[in-house]
Order: sequence, then C-alpha cells, then structure tokens
Amino acid sequence: MNITFDEKNRVFKIDTANTSYIFAVVDTEGFLGHIYYGPYIDSSDVTYVLRTEEYPFVPSVYAREKSPFLDRFLHEFSGNGSGDFRESGIRVKDPKGHSVVALQYKGYRIIDDKPALPKMPSTFAKDGKVKTLMVETYDPVIKLEVVFSYSIFEDSDAIIRTVKVTNKSEEKIHLTKIYPVCFDMEDEGYKMLTLHGGWAKERQIEVRDIAHGRTNIGTYCGKSSHQEHPFFALLGPDTNDDQGKVYGFNFVYSGNFIGQVEKNQFDCLRVSMGINPENFDFCLESQEEFVSPEVVSIYSNDGLGKMTREFHDLYRNHLIRSEYLYKDRPILINNWEATYFDFDTDKLIAIAKEAAKYGIEMLVMDDGWFGKRNSDELSLGDWDVNEEKIKGGLKYLVDEVNKAGLKFGIWFEPEMVSLDSNLYREHPDWIISVPDREPAQSRRQFVLDLTRREVIEHVYESVAKILRSANIEYVKWDMNRQISDLGSYGLDVERQGEICHRFVLGVYELQERLLQEFPHLLLENCSSGGARFDPGMLYYSPQIWTSDDTDAIERLGIQEGTALIYPLSTLGAHVSDCPNHVLGRNVPFETRGHVAMAGTFGYELDVTKIPMEDRLQIPKQVEMYHKYHKLVSSGDYYRILSYKSNGLNDAYIIVSKDKSEALLTYVQVINRPNRLSRILKLKGLDGSKIYKVEDSDKKYKGDVLMNIGLPIENLNGDFSSVMIHLYAE
Ligand code: GLA
Repeated sequence: MNITFDEKNRVFKIDTANTSYIFAVVDTEGFLGHIYYGPYIDSSDVTYVLRTEEYPFVPSVYAREKSPFLDRFLHEFSGNGSGDFRESGIRVKDPKGHSVVALQYKGYRIIDDKPALPKMPSTFAKDGKVKTLMVETYDPVIKLEVVFSYSIFEDSDAIIRTVKVTNKSEEKIHLTKIYPVCFDMEDEGYKMLTLHGGWAKERQIEVRDIAHGRTNIGTYCGKSSHQEHPFFALLGPDTNDDQGKVYGFNFVYSGNFIGQVEKNQFDCLRVSMGINPENFDFCLESQEEFVSPEVVSIYSNDGLGKMTREFHDLYRNHLIRSEYLYKDRPILINNWEATYFDFDTDKLIAIAKEAAKYGIEMLVMDDGWFGKRNSDELSLGDWDVNEEKIKGGLKYLVDEVNKAGLKFGIWFEPEMVSLDSNLYREHPDWIISVPDREPAQSRRQFVLDLTRREVIEHVYESVAKILRSANIEYVKWDMNRQISDLGSYGLDVERQGEICHRFVLGVYELQERLLQEFPHLLLENCSSGGARFDPGMLYYSPQIWTSDDTDAIERLGIQEGTALIYPLSTLGAHVSDCPNHVLGRNVPFETRGHVAMAGTFGYELDVTKIPMEDRLQIPKQVEMYHKYHKLVSSGDYYRILSYKSNGLNDAYIIVSKDKSEALLTYVQVINRPNRLSRILKLKGLDGSKIYKVEDSDKKYKGDVLMNIGLPIENLNGDFSSVMIHLYAE
C-alpha cells in the first residue's frame, strides 16, 4: 500500500496490494487527467497516455482550444459548463445564477489516517494502517474549494473516495450536483453489471452492453430502493466468476443515488457515481462545506469472484462496527408470516414455548403490537403498546418469553406516521409534504420530516422509551414506503432541495443514537423486504432483511445478487412455511433450511402449527447453524453454479481463510431424467491438502476436488439439496 506524488511528472499514484490508480496534474491550467486504473504497475512515468497535444476532432485544428480539448481529454474529474459536454461531476447555482465550475489544481496532502465523515457512515481502519490522499482544487471565479479524497487500507484493494466542497466566497452558493467519482477511461468492450429488482425480487444480476450515450441506474425515491441498487460493475469481454477484468463501484449511502457510464464519440467511458442530482440543491453559506458520502471501487483482475471476496473483506474489516459481526446471532422466530396482525400475548407465548422445545433462541414480535394496529392502515407513530392484544403489558410478555428461555426482539417503523394516528392528528405539519397539495399515501402512511430537530427528538424518544421498558435485545427497523411530495415545513425556501439528503442524515443520526444508548442491541434494518440493503445501513446494523420473498428457490437468485457484494453474515434469511406466502410453492423443509443457512438464519412461521415432521428437523438445523456459522460469517465465498443463469441448479462453497475447512451447498432445483450423476468442481481449496468429507469415510485431495470434482450423491427430486462439510486432515 502506498500513495506517491511524482513531482517531475506531477503524477499521483495510489497503489493497493494488487492495483494501481494513476492520475496527473496537467500544465498550468491545472486540470486533473486520468491515466490508469488496473493491475499494479511500478512506474509513474506514464503521462504520454494523456495525449494533451493531439489534434482534436475536425474541424478544429487547434490542439489546445479549450472546448475541443476539454471534450476529448480523459479527466480525473470534470467541472461543469466550460467545454466538456459529457456528464459533469459538479454543478452550482452561483449568486448570479450561473452554473459553471472550472476547477484548478492547488495542492495535495497525504496522511496516515482516514477522517470519519460527519454524520454519515464511512469505512474505517481498525489497525491504523490506512493512507489518504487529499487533492485540493479551486475555482477562483466563484471561490469554491473542492477537495477529493482517496483512501486505501493495507489489507484491501478497495479505493474509497469522497469529495468536500467549501464555499470560500462571502455569498451563498447552491450546490446542485456533486459526485465523488467522475473519471474517464478508454472502453475495452466493457459490459455493465447491475442489480435490478422489485418487491420480493431484489438484486437480480443483469448484464448489459454499453452503447454510446448514457447508461445509468439510480433512484429518486429517498432510499436505495428495490428497483435499482447503488452498485455497478464494468466487466471486460471475457470476464466470468473466475477470470477477467472487473471494476466494481458501490455507494456507501442509503438515499437517492446515480451510477452511470457514458460512452462518447472517442469510445471513452465516463464513470460516475454519487447522490442523484434530481431534487438535490444544497445551499452553502459563506465558509460552509458539504461532504459527499463515500464511493468504494474495487478492481479485480481475476473475475467477479475475486471482486466479491474483496467487498466482503472490506465490509467485514472496515465498515460493520457491530459486536455481532462474527458472533452467532440468536436463532429467531418472527411472527410476521405466522400471524400477521392477528396475535396476542397468549399466542406469542405459545409460539415461544413451542419454539424453545426445538432450540430456537429469540422471539421477534413483528408489526401490530402498538396503537390500534390490526391492519397496515393505521397507528404508525403511536408507539404505545396495545394492551388489548398484549395483555399484561410489554414487560410481562418479554419476561414470560425470557422465562421460556428465549430472548425478545421487536419491530418498529420509526420514520413513518399513519394518516389515522394520534401523532398525525397532533402534528400534521410533521410529514414531508407540499403545502396546498394532497400528499401521496402509500399503505395509508406518510414519511416523517426527519429534517426537523423536534421530529427527530420525538421519534428517538418513542423508540427508546419502549426499549427501556423491558429486556428487548433486538430491533427490526422497517421502512415501508418511498418519499414523495418533497416539501418541509421546517426548512427555508432555499433549503427545500436538501430534504432527501437531510432525511437520510436523520435516519443515520437516529440509529447512531440508539446504538450509543443500547450498545448491545442487535439491529436489523429492513425496508419492505430488502429495499434499503446498502453499505450505509451496514454501518449501523450487522444484518439486513434481504427480501419478503422467503421462498427458498426464489431466494437463490436474490441471495446470489446480494452476496455479490455483501458478506453472508449480513443477509437476513429465514425458513418460512409452505405453501410459500409469496409464490405458493412447496419446497422441502430441509432445503429451506439449507438456503437460509447462507444468511443470518431464523424462522418465520407458526411453530405450533407446522407439521410435526418439520418441527423435528429444527434441532438439527439449529445445531448446523451453530456449527457452521463461524465459517459462513468469516470465510471466503465462491460461486460454483447459478440457478439464476442455468435454470437448473445452484451451488456455492465457503472456504475458511486458512483453507482448512469448507462448506458446500448444492441445490438441485430441477431434476433431469437419464443423465450421469453430478460431479461438482469445487473452488478455493488448497490443492495440496487432503480433505475429508464429514460423516463419511471419503477423502479427496484439494486439486482433485477443484479439477475433477466432488460426486453429489443421493439427491432425488426437484428442490432437493445437500450441504457438505469438508475439512483438511
Ligand atoms: C415489511 C417487512 C416485513 C414485515 C412487514 C410488517 O413488509 O419487510 O417483514 O415486517 O413490513 O408490516
């Protein structure tokens, strides 16, 4: 790991263990030109790549005429409106109403530190082994200072970028766009991989060609969303899981984002990522600054699998702070799919007592315990226990559940208020809405205006008071609608464009405070399933509910897409009842268990009602979870087969860092007649080690398992599965 500045060539070089990232300051005007991002190279004498004196396109013959030059040049970051007609990385509305930004290089600093971002999630160094380059630029006309930061950790190939904008003028200025990443590279036939989705089908892997013009993903709905995901990767022409070039970009943010690739007339790509400029307008007073969230980029020369493992390690080592990161999570049973709104104290205690018999460790009381909430139409915001349902009160229920031997967890949706609620009747101006316009409802609820101090204080106390009232050890923090009607009764006219970003900061503040007051709380984020599964939330919660689709077969694709970036220990995954409530499909209980084992593992069913033969399988699943969780949460994840791509079967293996053990999961989704039995080539093992198959006398050498394969025996029927534990002798 190193960051250098070559004074002679004016070249910045950022080196991680396996990659180099290079850019330069170009002549007196001080543009920043992008030179290289890829496998590690030694030299910084590479400025010829910038081709600054080449003739621009016909009809101009003046090599350095500003407009043709700027529009052709490969920028490390581009300003706005002075001749480069590609997507800009920054835009303002200055006191005279103009939007031009032209940045000039001023200087740099390299420090052995990585300052935390104010009020936002950010990656951090645990051991102090980090370096940050800060490149200072300035626009002397509008007196705007823009500092680009690049941080690297010793044990990672990630480059983490943020940008800070400071208004050095005496007047206000509006920042209307800011991307931490906006650089150019030559196209080598890249394709763009994204994760699209919808409710119950989050993060589906999709690969598309990059045509000329702009290809982008993004959201405007106030959260990272079901529909698109703040991640994309550029894949070289021959890239697959195990080989080829991959550039992955992930935004550590939970609000509106954009990720974009623009292919121009010279077949160059402009790669950008940041807060979506749609509905974004941040007013900076004199000397005020705006700091962007971080973008993580990872280059892999060895395919998608290597990129995945780099992301997993980065987030485990440098983002997730929770004490639960590697700990066995209590195996929970959640009553949502068991009872929906139809429950009371007796029913919950009955579930807890029955669950205890099979080794389940925590009961989570989901939506419906407060106000008059017997459907999803009312009472959000009225966080008082409904004692008609929870007879004897919350403390009594929690104590009884604890007596049954289970911990207790609870559901909240703190950012919301129902139309039919006391809170809304008392404070109709506390919702995000535009005066004189009927605000859009969704699930008959509105979004609370977390840009306002008094609303944040009220929401915090509502949640904290419940947590203080009983022995509650887990919170599921839900968020079940999108943000529309962008207006705040608490913000000045010229700050209305700040609502979406300030709202996200409000959510971060609330969760941070909760963790400060309840440091051992296990927090699980959720948003109508997995609509806010992003690295920003992982800074606060070590696990996120992956999807409301608990069908084990659908989960294969959802979990494959999610695990492309996020460690398995973060994926909320439960065994639910059949026929599945979303799809109506019947999958064997064993397979449901195997698939949920690639996540936090738990149950989402009425254990007093499911068939006895299913109940009797729970103790074995509980034992397996505890036996393998350390490996699942800390190991290296390799994808072997993708049901999403082949329509037949799915397989992945988790290998311990020291390669002494591995856990293979194989799901035969569709059986085929009259075929050879399957021999599965494994990955990630030590070729020289002998591996024993647990509970059998079979032994194979690692190189045999990886090149010839492991026989998968005795699988019969559709939806059957097996988990095989191998350990080195
Ligand atoms: C969302 C969640 C579910 C459940 C319901 C309750 O849809 O994703 O798991 O908590 O809300 O209303």
